[in-house]
Amino acid sequence: MFNNLTELPTDPILGLAAAFRADERVNKVDLSVGVFKNEKGETPIFEAVKKAEAYRVETETTKAYIGMTGQDGYNSLLLAEALGASHPVIAEGRVASTLTPGGCGALHMIAQMIKRSNAKAKVWVSDPTWANHIPLIGGVGIEIETYPYFDRATHGVNFDAMLSQLNKLGADDIVLLHACCHNPTGADLSEAQWDQLAESAAKNGWIPFIDSAYQGLGTSLEADGYGMRTMAKAVPQMFLALSCSKNFGLYRDRVGLAAVITDKTNVNAVLSHVKVVGRGIWSMPPAHGGAIVEKILSTPTLRDSWVSELEDICSTVNTNRQLLAQALTGAGIPGDFGYLTENQGMFSFLDLSKDQINRLREEHAVYIVGSGRINIAGAHKGNVDLIAEAIKAVF
Ligand code: LMR
Repeated sequence: MFNNLTELPTDPILGLAAAFRADERVNKVDLSVGVFKNEKGETPIFEAVKKAEAYRVETETTKAYIGMTGQDGYNSLLLAEALGASHPVIAEGRVASTLTPGGCGALHMIAQMIKRSNAKAKVWVSDPTWANHIPLIGGVGIEIETYPYFDRATHGVNFDAMLSQLNKLGADDIVLLHACCHNPTGADLSEAQWDQLAESAAKNGWIPFIDSAYQGLGTSLEADGYGMRTMAKAVPQMFLALSCSKNFGLYRDRVGLAAVITDKTNVNAVLSHVKVVGRGIWSMPPAHGGAIVEKILSTPTLRDSWVSELEDICSTVNTNRQLLAQALTGAGIPGDFGYLTENQGMFSFLDLSKDQINRLREEHAVYIVGSGRINIAGAHKGNVDLIAEAIKAVF
């Protein structure tokens, strides 16, 4: 039966990360997968995570299954971090949520919930969006459309075009928005723009689906949550996918949360479907990562430590942005790189052709995703000049 299958190209992000690992050149530079790295190229475990894990190893008494939607402590603490503990949707008991294996599990769970709630629903994604959004959401048979987002000339958001498209949508339209640190462009919405989007959703009836994978890595936990909080106050229904991969550094432990915000009257019905969907995909959610996050968020000293470590990472990424912009300008590469310091989070685009990107990899061991997306965390004071010289050499 497998004779029908032909070999597929490697994943555009993970395939490149694997090629980087296999590259034996000493001065190689990895600007591919969205993982934080320090100047030694390491992705350290948060101290707060280490301590929470030590506590767990000492105190865990069973490996029996946890509940179908995870541990209530984890769900409510993480939701409070995203939306604010006193958010009306929490106070009014309007959220049905489940722990998921990573943010990807949350995205796929929500896609299934959309499909079973409204067979006519379409999901609108930004142009461009994270490549894996398409299979995770479209894979359940939902039609996907794109709305204008990125302005290639300014490397910012083409907000007028975006809003004008979204103003034409209605109740069968679900709009996927990146809470902050837009992947792959780094171009984020301002607070005033979030306000306008919330007004559009409330007026036209389209349903926001917010993917939050980088809260705390753009400006701060509070500022990066503005869009989620504002939108959840403005509309009766909303989807929220949270990931703990980047902001807790729990990448390989796969920890996320899917939340459906709805009316108080049908929250139990929605939750019953969330349980059935989860049972049909992963049966029972994993316990480990959620328990670590729960311990951190429920212990003031650990939470303080986590917040301060996250702030350090955020500030390192922002410093890397400045260093790279200076190095590119200093090397005399044509273009204005000011946008690198205006974009937020781990990613930005470099305006490079496919040929230049291939030559950077083959001739200079600098790994950039084929779209031109770079992971800013991989560019630091120890290698920005090398990166700039390599880019200059392919111009
Ligand atoms: C990325 O965009 O590089 C990360 O979100 C990792 C991934 O799974 O693609």
